[in-house]
Amino acid sequence: MKGVILAGGLATRLYPLTFATNKHLLPVYDKPMVYYPIQTLVNAGVKDVLIVVSGPYSGHFIQVLKNGKEFGLKHLEFAYQENPKGGIADALSLAEDFSEGESLTVILGDNTTDADISKPVNNFKKGALIFLKKVPDPKRFGVPKFDSTNPKKIVEIIEKPKDPPSNYAVTGLYIYDNKVFDFIKQCDPNYIGRGELEITQVNNFYIKENQLGWFELNGYWLDAGTFDTLLQANIFWAKKRGSTVLDI
Ligand code: DAU
Repeated sequence: MKGVILAGGLATRLYPLTFATNKHLLPVYDKPMVYYPIQTLVNAGVKDVLIVVSGPYSGHFIQVLKNGKEFGLKHLEFAYQENPKGGIADALSLAEDFSEGESLTVILGDNTTDADISKPVNNFKKGALIFLKKVPDPKRFGVPKFDSTNPKKIVEIIEKPKDPPSNYAVTGLYIYDNKVFDFIKQCDPNYIGRGELEITQVNNFYIKENQLGWFELNGYWLDAGTFDTLLQANIFWAKKRGSTVLDI
């Protein structure tokens, strides 16, 4: 199993914070944001990692992460996504050569979690596995629709639905077999009209082939892509590391 962290995009939602560096290098309490998905992979035993970057501050990643030894990585590689708004699936397509036919655990660079995913990572055989989390605001995410007769079976994932079919978010953690690259090639940039290759379309291809499994993420999870969720992530990790500054 190899690991991929997707840290491209322009993060315009976080302007002016992202005028001078990449979103994934902004602080989440005492560490740059990208440290968190790296740590999640390392904790699950994944030590061969590719980070996809894009935009004007791509070089900053090397200054911060160097060769990855500090994290216990065996191998750290970078890929550059030419179109920073190509979409998550476009960013993932750059991992095809790196994968060398192996399965991949993929984490979005702005997702932080304290969940332990080592079991699903180590037991993974084929198809795709997604991680779900109950959220108060599912409209902001990919949301699974469950079968009315079999509530464990996902029949479709809907990206940012106006009328969410469940209270679950599809988190930015995924495990894929190598078929993912065939599915990405079939993705339509106008799938939901934002000109991006959507990871939700990839997941729906797996559903059509009856090859998508899911796990409920057993811990805290947040995507730190907005001002409020970035602040929330900072507060969570500060408290988790024992900071008492918020008790004042
Ligand atoms: O966080 C979970 C959500 O992430 C899922 O529920 C959604 O299904 C999924 O589409 C995604 O939604 P967002 O709209 O929040 O994705 P966003 O555009 O913010 O991108 C998330 C990360 O993906 C970003 O931090 C870096 C990476 N990315 C994104 C794009 C658009 C890339 O590497 N390249 C890209 O072109």
